[in-house]
Amino acid sequence: MRINSFKLTLSLCIFIYQFSLGADENLTLENKINSYLSEMSLEEKVGQILMVEIGYITPEEVQEYNIGAILNGGGSFPYKKNDHDAQDWMDLADEYYMASSMTSKGKKSMPVFWGTDAVHGHNNLRGATIFPHNIGLGATRNPQLVEEISSAVALEIIASGLDLTFAPAVSVPRDDRWGRTYEGFSEDPELVALLGKHSVIGFQGELGNNFLSSNKILSTAKHFIGDGGTLDGVDKGNTILSEEDLINIHAKGYVSTINAGVQFVMASFNSWNGNKLHGEEYLLTNLLKEQLEFDGVVLGDWNGHQEVSGCSVDSCAQAINAGLDMFMITDNWRGLFNNTLQQVKEGQISKARLDDAVKRILRVKFRYRLIQKGKPSSRIASPSINFIDYKQHREIARTAVQESLVLLKNNNNTLPLDPSKKILIIGEGSKKVSKATGGWSYSWQGSNVENSYFPGATTIYDGFLKIVKEGLGNIEYSEDGQYKTKPDVAILVIGENPYAEYQGSVENLVLTDVEFDHLDVASKLRQENIQVVTLFISGRPLWVNRELNASDAFVAAWLPGTEGAGVADILFINPNTKKEKDFKGKLPFSWPKSANQSSINFGDDSYSPLFSFGYGLSYKDSIQLNKLSEKLDTVTDSKLGNIILEGWPKSGMEVVLQSENEEVFLNSKNISTSNGKLLLDIFDTKIQEDSQRITFKGNTNSSWSLISSKPINWEREEKASGVLSIQIKILQKDSQDELYLSSSCGEDCGQSFGLNKFLDNIPKERWFVLGMPLKCLKENDVDLSNLFKPLIFNTQGAWSFELGKIYLEGGMGGKSIVSCESLKGDYE
Ligand code: BGC
Ligand code: BGC
Repeated sequence: MRINSFKLTLSLCIFIYQFSLGADENLTLENKINSYLSEMSLEEKVGQILMVEIGYITPEEVQEYNIGAILNGGGSFPYKKNDHDAQDWMDLADEYYMASSMTSKGKKSMPVFWGTDAVHGHNNLRGATIFPHNIGLGATRNPQLVEEISSAVALEIIASGLDLTFAPAVSVPRDDRWGRTYEGFSEDPELVALLGKHSVIGFQGELGNNFLSSNKILSTAKHFIGDGGTLDGVDKGNTILSEEDLINIHAKGYVSTINAGVQFVMASFNSWNGNKLHGEEYLLTNLLKEQLEFDGVVLGDWNGHQEVSGCSVDSCAQAINAGLDMFMITDNWRGLFNNTLQQVKEGQISKARLDDAVKRILRVKFRYRLIQKGKPSSRIASPSINFIDYKQHREIARTAVQESLVLLKNNNNTLPLDPSKKILIIGEGSKKVSKATGGWSYSWQGSNVENSYFPGATTIYDGFLKIVKEGLGNIEYSEDGQYKTKPDVAILVIGENPYAEYQGSVENLVLTDVEFDHLDVASKLRQENIQVVTLFISGRPLWVNRELNASDAFVAAWLPGTEGAGVADILFINPNTKKEKDFKGKLPFSWPKSANQSSINFGDDSYSPLFSFGYGLSYKDSIQLNKLSEKLDTVTDSKLGNIILEGWPKSGMEVVLQSENEEVFLNSKNISTSNGKLLLDIFDTKIQEDSQRITFKGNTNSSWSLISSKPINWEREEKASGVLSIQIKILQKDSQDELYLSSSCGEDCGQSFGLNKFLDNIPKERWFVLGMPLKCLKENDVDLSNLFKPLIFNTQGAWSFELGKIYLEGGMGGKSIVSCESLKGDYE
């Protein structure tokens, strides 16, 4: 059944947009498009509907194929330069623009535009201001602030030569286990619609006013539709809803952003009632283009078309026929170009559908005046201002940090703190920018990015330090709760480590990322009459009853970004004015009272969260929070089934390369030791960045290790016949020098197993699962209660292999199990 009553309400909202452009203007625009289109060859049209990732296409190829657009993925930098600056981006943008503008060989040229995920600031660009993630902006409930942020981001994008952002996400996350929860403003569709609209106005300008004027860029509402509604919060999963519910819950952000003139809508990876959105004609064409009257570009997500049934990454007529206007594509763009061309020639894609897609792309390019703008470096209106690392932008971000903090507990009015007191700050998260910036920050996952990659940033600790110094108090920092001077108050900084997309999805809402025994530390401090304030950093609400009980005050800080110092502005009385700044933040998501309450949402029939949507104390309140239940409910805490690495290590884990006393942590897609003996590249097998390619060049002992920030205990898993399973594909073997697999429980504790004999029977170039029974470790005296490096590969030889998932499993089924016997005697 198709719901028609929505049609009317929805279309009523859209009319302002059509009218504010002006009828005459629309007419000239459409004439221009048609005349342009009539001069294009079929090949040129097909090229226009591709958006290709910069790592896979050169400016010359963009020109040759008349490619319509380019993008950089998360952590993909111009010229692959990790230490790039805005000039590098600008130089490459000029190259692509100039190449695509060339009219040699009688071609009809059309410049490309460049899209990027500026989802909380221009977050791939080193040195840019990184704002709180959307979840924090949802807590501010401040549409003007959101608009200001997007305007600031637009200036940073222009200053680096780009045109388009894949933001705002108008997702409505309904199950907090979803790894993208923080990308959404709220679980409440109305709040999402309001903030999404103002974000678009900030990026693109206001219709009838400064729409797409020289200091504005293009923007994208994503991911259409139902991305936040998947069953169990599974990323790219299935959203099972009636059309009425789908629209009521997940469409409001599209209505408001289309109304505000958004030029792109990105199709989602998820399915609706079993059908992948990239192939959903009813939703892409009938709902989005016809009922919602969207006249811009329906953009695909990262190779997202390949998930449509019957499609592959280089062939998907279904998606174009369903209403997709532009594919987002990586390495297989040539195949996709050739197949699409063929499909048009053979009539599998109608010429009319192709023309419609191209017209939409041209419409956006003309509206944005892409040709008149000239090359990116010629567009800078105020060359004297460096918009990257710009004081005004940092101030806006700091305000956003202040307004996003939500006070959940403040027994006995513990806060605000007096800066003349003795303050102890605990937790290395307080000093790590990457903990505060979360995913989509410099790299895709955002994990383990060193502070030096965020020049100009302040940490949460920096803010505390400054204010306590000014207040003439005493400040001490501790990683684990030990102190020299007995403090009056301890501030514990804890919470989630960075993640993005499916890598961040979890099974329940238990907090697992902790660098120290925060509960013990808190209880010891309180026994000594030291007040405890917990600052909680996270991309979603988690079950924190134990932490709440252990604290006198508790503040949800979300993912504040590079202006972490803003936290201190609220927690402390200002030493100069002697006044405090009050909390403004209100919960954008319902806060769970158990670890299983992940899909509780405002408006549910039986709504019983711990803190309701909209909750948030101010300094005027004096509410005492009583002791909460600490029972863990039905959640099991066995780690069997847990994935610990999938391209990127899961939270709490890191990958480090070692050669000749040098350690290199995995913090971007391509790393190597400086002696060039060990290389690691992250690449895509089934989904994005799900695999590693590791190359040992030989002649030097080098190692790849998975290390845990906190010792792991796998004793229980061993008792349950646990197996460490490693998806591996051997590319190059060294018959002389052994490849070792080891596990370490600290200095002089651990075991190495030589793998050569075992691998002799395994063909190269083939994926298989290497199963290492935990009992082999135990039998060889590895202390399973204290694993620091659960997995190490090391060798002197020239070995090369690929790693897929690494996970713990119960039982032996279907794997190439390393028998403990075969290993015995083989180790060093
Ligand atoms: C992200 C990209 C990222 C890519 C990595 C995608 O899911 O959105 O930005 O670079 O995966 O392969
Ligand atoms: C993500 C999008 C993103 C795109 C480009 C995808 O994996 O789902 O949100 O815009 O990659 O990086």
